[in-house]
Amino acid sequence: MDIFLADESATLELGKQLAQLCPTSQFTLFLEGELGAGKTTLSRGLLRALGHQGNVKSPTYTLVERYDLASRTVFHFDLYRVIDPEELDYLGLDDYFSNQSLCIVEWPSQGSDYLPTADLIIEISYKNHSRNVKITAHTPAGENVLEQVNN
Ligand SMILES: Nc1ncnc2c1ncn2[C@@H]1O[C@H](COP(=O)(O)OP(=O)(O)O)[C@@H](O)[C@H]1O
Ligand SMILES: [Mg+2]
Repeated sequence: MDIFLADESATLELGKQLAQLCPTSQFTLFLEGELGAGKTTLSRGLLRALGHQGNVKSPTYTLVERYDLASRTVFHFDLYRVIDPEELDYLGLDDYFSNQSLCIVEWPSQGSDYLPTADLIIEISYKNHSRNVKITAHTPAGENVLEQVNN
């Protein structure tokens, strides 16, 4: 599915929609796109919709930020600075991608085989001063969410 996001508020709104649609079972979103595309903005929209107040920054140095929210725990990854995917061995990724969490991963390409299959892959690209987003489902749970996304 392709969606046009005219401005930042549209990106936040898509994050909000995903917050409402993603099941409370274990679920994984990959966010792809260049620096400044809007991966963290979308994550912020999602986290705020789940009740997080305050800042959301890419956890570029810490690799992962945990949010314990009313409905569930969200882990927000930013793997931009990962040079060798083996670095992820030390993080113990299996513990994150279990226990009914919602995992959002920026720069999943840096994580290669250490990451599980995403339920949804969201690719954001520049379109003049706006953005285009392409969403693809890679599991039945992801397909179920994608069917309900409004564009
Ligand atoms: N749909 C959009 N159209 C135009 N600008 C956007 C849109 N969505 C987000 N932005 C802007 O683009 C930038 C995205 O930054 P950020 O979310 O940190 O990107 P990333 O995490 O992909 O590096 C922010 O300045 C934000 O205001
Ligand atoms: Mg970011």
